[in-house]
Amino acid sequence: MRIAILGFGSVGRGIARVLLAKDLGIAVTGLADSKSGIIDAGGIDLAAALARKEGGGPCGNPGVSPADVVAKAKYDVLVEVTPTNVETGEPALGHIREALRRHKHVVTSNKGPIALDYPGLRALAEANGVLLKYEATVCGAIPLIHAMQEGLAGNTISRLYGVFNGTCNYILTRMAAEGLTYEQALAEARELGYAEADPTYDVEGIDAGIKLVILANTILDLSTTLDDVERTGITLLSPEALQLAEDQDCTIRLIGEIIPDAGVLRVSPRIIPKTHPLVVEGTLNAVTVEADLAGDLTFIGKGAGSTETASAVIGDLLYIRERYVKGS
Ligand code: HSE
Repeated sequence: MRIAILGFGSVGRGIARVLLAKDLGIAVTGLADSKSGIIDAGGIDLAAALARKEGGGPCGNPGVSPADVVAKAKYDVLVEVTPTNVETGEPALGHIREALRRHKHVVTSNKGPIALDYPGLRALAEANGVLLKYEATVCGAIPLIHAMQEGLAGNTISRLYGVFNGTCNYILTRMAAEGLTYEQALAEARELGYAEADPTYDVEGIDAGIKLVILANTILDLSTTLDDVERTGITLLSPEALQLAEDQDCTIRLIGEIIPDAGVLRVSPRIIPKTHPLVVEGTLNAVTVEADLAGDLTFIGKGAGSTETASAVIGDLLYIRERYVKGS
């Protein structure tokens, strides 16, 4: 199977490293970051592209744009892993639409396009006989979308709540455990590649809010936007507030919640007893789903990180290959 990758940041490089480390039978024939690109039907030398990028350079040739890769490379699946833009979804949205029109499957970790226009993208994918997969948009390595779409098919979900942002969870954990300031902990999360390109998305609860919109619109049959999410971030939380929680054997976590029948979508910091299952550490996410047939299920796993997010992208790619890409 041949793929083209748009985006060579934390997620794109994570995918490249996995493809170099494991023989998955996936060749990369197009690659672009925001400033350069490569098209090579014979397969791109990923190790060389990684070395160039990690040396501070562009991944490829400055004369090749992401749009060139979408239009001219020979590939079965477009892997769109550029940073999220919550206002317009662009430029990713345009690239995804163009790939679908060209009858290419699409796998994305980009929350903007899915939150803003899932119905339109899905209709376009169906009209062109291809798949659109987006497991990596919500909760990093946890296969939550797959579990809800396939494993829990037939269940009615009455409530879904938990920790959806790894960066905030990392910051809250580091502040409570090590007494770091908010600024120090955020700087670490950025350094480690957990935060969004614009980290205000993380700390103001926008990232968690978009993930709720994605789950609401793509799994729970709702039609919501980020404006429907009642949202408070963690920017005003002080080490003293964490200490006060600590004194009561509690801690603070940024919790996202959807109650479909009540029209509730909200993200806010909450004081929770330390023994609660949603009190997870570091970049872990934890989500409890209340389902009528299955009962309560709690999913826990890494919600951010290069390899962890690559895991979700690779899972989607292999799903597509198994079912839809013949002879590769
Ligand atoms: N910045 C996001 C987070 C990445 O910290 O959860 C994964 O969506």
